[in-house]
Amino acid sequence: MTMFPPQLLIFETAAELHHVAAAYWRRLAQEAVEVRGRFLLVLAGGSTPKPLYRRMAQSPYREDVPWSQTHVFWGDERMTSPEDPESNYGQARETLLSQVPVPPEQVHPVPGKLEPEEAALAYGETLARWARAGRSWPRFDLVLLGLGSDGHTASLFPGSTGGEEEGVPARAVHAEYGDRPADRVTLTPPVFNSARQIFFLVTGEEKAEAVAGVLDGEYDPGRWPAQRIRPEDGRVSWLVDRAAATQLVDEF
Ligand code: 6PG
Repeated sequence: MTMFPPQLLIFETAAELHHVAAAYWRRLAQEAVEVRGRFLLVLAGGSTPKPLYRRMAQSPYREDVPWSQTHVFWGDERMTSPEDPESNYGQARETLLSQVPVPPEQVHPVPGKLEPEEAALAYGETLARWARAGRSWPRFDLVLLGLGSDGHTASLFPGSTGGEEEGVPARAVHAEYGDRPADRVTLTPPVFNSARQIFFLVTGEEKAEAVAGVLDGEYDPGRWPAQRIRPEDGRVSWLVDRAAATQLVDEF
């Protein structure tokens, strides 16, 4: 088992960050399809990845990415209908999935209209269908994650720990964060931590304290839940813009 240190990439602008993320995404998708015949992708919610999704829907990514072998999942979801702008699935459908040739049966949203507990169970069953024999979830090729200014990622919020040891792939969460829907479903750290590659996409000065807390602070996952993301045999890359990197000790 190898644990790689996180890779930190700092960009002058969010646009540059998205440019590089798009090129990486394409390369990882092409390699995964070449080697394993499919690309298992986990999308993030929130506003940060939206410009990336829009970029992926355009040339050259629209043509170059093996969309027909891409399978799409979500790291977390807010319990609402896909038509609601707060739906992570709805957002990805509008900005990306409706514009690229991913077969609809390869798109696996969390069922946002169910009660969160029920949706978490259902999503666990979906993940199990894509797992290798004897496993409860698939090993994802690329996971996109965001970071909240309070240090949360996906729907792993401060003050909530546990779950690692139980082998539960998805769980219900009730958490207030801004005016976003509080009832959510999140994948759990073991699922994220079995991925081959994870990208944190983080922009804006309001994230600077959280970026420094997660990357430079003591290990305190109750305070900085994003510290729970530590792949066992995969890579984490932090793609951060200059504004979000200002409180890092080793910024330069
Ligand atoms: C969600 C997310 C969440 C998000 C962060 C950052 O569904 O809310 O998955 O973890 O990534 O809250 O959100 P922004 O990109 O909007 O700052």
